Amino acid sequence: MNTPPTDYENLVAATKATLGRIAVDFSPAVFASSLAAEDMVLTDMILRTGLPISIFTLETGRLHAETLGMLDTIKERYAYDIERLRPDPGAVEQYVENNGLNGFYDSVELRKECCRIRKVDPLNRALAGNTAWVTGQRRAQSSTRAELDVQERDEAHDMTKFNPLADWSEADVWKYIRDNEVPYNPLHDRGYPSIGCEPCTRAVEPGEDVRAGRWWWENPDSKECGLHVVDGKLIRIKSAT
Ligand code: ADX
Ligand code: SF4
Repeated sequence: MNTPPTDYENLVAATKATLGRIAVDFSPAVFASSLAAEDMVLTDMILRTGLPISIFTLETGRLHAETLGMLDTIKERYAYDIERLRPDPGAVEQYVENNGLNGFYDSVELRKECCRIRKVDPLNRALAGNTAWVTGQRRAQSSTRAELDVQERDEAHDMTKFNPLADWSEADVWKYIRDNEVPYNPLHDRGYPSIGCEPCTRAVEPGEDVRAGRWWWENPDSKECGLHVVDGKLIRIKSAT
């Protein structure tokens, strides 16, 4: 007798179906990869079947060597070159001159300004001319993502945005990675469940919130970099009711 599919198997099948639908109905579509675990699940699903969704990363100039190393790892494993989007050198130079190399520690405004130059402006360039973009965000990652949908209207970019892993748990992500022998950033084994730029990410203790190491000096509700804007707002915090 056939055993019914598990919740996990249903989740994987639904996610593959979403990616297939994006490739067919939302062409041209692009996938923004931070090269962290969630994004490696989607990378594996896209590249294993050769789906026509191109993959880029925002190479901020402040990433860990281990994160940059994933570009070579992906090339070796999947024979695919991830496109690198770099910030405008003039804007970076101006910011550093005015605020110092690490001015982002001084205020939330200066932190968001650095994210704008190094991430948001290059993202806007990467998205231009596409019908849809794909992210690796999950609902369970933080209070700011509590109301995330698999498919959203991204008004800020006037396009459709997909979060195919919205329903996935962290355990689902790691089960997929282990079952499919997907390569992953070695920092995940050194206490980094969430990985961003090197000076703005630190390791967390077991049991701590998965995003506790991101911009750890800020209030949890301000911890978004501006890549993900909904209804003109950066955050969508679930109401207490
Ligand atoms: S962040 O907005 O706080 O930096 P997080 O690291 O959780 O986000 O990543 C959420 C999603 O944003 C990723 O799955 C990816 O789609 C996108 N993203 C974040 N950082 C980058 C990056 N450097 N390059 C491309 N996409 C990124
Ligand atoms: Fe700048 Fe930190 Fe934002 Fe990276 S995460 S762009 S270093 S403020």
